[in-house]
Amino acid sequence: MDKNISFTLKVWRQNGPKEKGHFDTFDMKDIPGDTSFLEMLDILNEQLIEDNKEPFVFDHDCREGICGMCSLYINGHPHGPGQGATTCQLYMRKFSDGDIITVEPGARPVTR
Ligand code: FES
Repeated sequence: MDKNISFTLKVWRQNGPKEKGHFDTFDMKDIPGDTSFLEMLDILNEQLIEDNKEPFVFDHDCREGICGMCSLYINGHPHGPGQGATTCQLYMRKFSDGDIITVEPGARPVTR
């Protein structure tokens, strides 16, 4: 069983392709290592919605590593630290407790 990790998440936010963007920073607590990266973003969005804040918008479709819609830059690398795996196939066990994880738009255009 994977252990839970807590980390700082810096997410690029932008209201549209021509708008100026910025990073928002979130403290993520006790995320299980067997949580996929997109499931972790779902957890963040549930927290944002609960707090009446705008959720983070990201492209995805199959969540099975097939369609390629989930391209995000994670810590400056396309799809993050996983070699040959898409973002939806990246699991939080690849990160360590106390990490700072940055998320930026991938190959797909920014919507918001
Ligand atoms: S959502 Fe289809 S490959 Fe990631």
